Amino acid sequence: MTNEKIPLVAVLGSPISHSKSPVLHSYWLRKYGINGHYIPMEVDTVDLDNVLISMPKMGFIGANITIPHKENVMKIADKISDRAAMIGAANTLSFGSNGRIYADNTDGYGFIENIRQHQPEWHATDGPSLILGAGGASRAVVSSLLEKSAPEIWITNRTRARAEKIASDFGARVKVIDWFSVNKFLPDAATVINATSLGMVGKPELTIDLKPLSNKTLVTDLVYNPIETHLLTQARERGCRTVDGVGMLIHQAVPGFSRWFNVQPTVDTALRDLLLS
Ligand code: ATR
Repeated sequence: MTNEKIPLVAVLGSPISHSKSPVLHSYWLRKYGINGHYIPMEVDTVDLDNVLISMPKMGFIGANITIPHKENVMKIADKISDRAAMIGAANTLSFGSNGRIYADNTDGYGFIENIRQHQPEWHATDGPSLILGAGGASRAVVSSLLEKSAPEIWITNRTRARAEKIASDFGARVKVIDWFSVNKFLPDAATVINATSLGMVGKPELTIDLKPLSNKTLVTDLVYNPIETHLLTQARERGCRTVDGVGMLIHQAVPGFSRWFNVQPTVDTALRDLLLS
């Protein structure tokens, strides 16, 4: 009998039952024969601090953080990656042997790797990117596009002030455009990204008209439920390359898994099918 510790990882959020992360990480744990566990944990905001401090003592080596804790966790972490600091939110934690909490944000990494996997010819440098939405997901996308040398980012949001805040945080390559003048910018956009929740099941439809779009544009939607959004259907009808949102969910999990379990997991179609089933 050995006394080897079984590594534990959890996803913390509220509500948490809808999270796909346990399915995803458990698939990789099985695939690579790793003796570890990944579990969902319902945690209230008032308890986040205490839960995180206790976790390393209970055998946890890391955690994912989801709604509504992604911003709050920044105040609790001992060390924060540059990209998480720029985004203002973290989704991936590693616990040091002394219980210190290292916080990172892998959403932008997931965004870029998803496009690269499905449209390898695409580059952030292809031309201006047009982003719809200015929430946490949008901030992660902006950060990753700038890191990949995007020449210019046009950002638009129903609540303009949130877009203005992103522009002032991320600098001169980010420009705010009016929510009602998107049409004027579509012909010159190399990449169009929906980072709003519009088009998601239970939410209103995203109603922008893609007629002005060039067929050279790549269109991607962060919404993955449904997998085929109206935006993607419209874009394909115009002859554009499209990338759906489920791959971002999978790819954002790669850096965490590899850090916790020392295996770089591959993103295969069986995993994608599992998440969609
Ligand atoms: P996330 O962290 O997933 O980005 P969020 O911070 O709640 O979530 O952001 C949701 C995004 O969808 C925001 O850009 C939001 O616009 P507002 O900042 O104006 O709220 C956008 N969104 C949600 N519902 C919308 C609607 N009915 N019309 C337009 N935009 C909407």
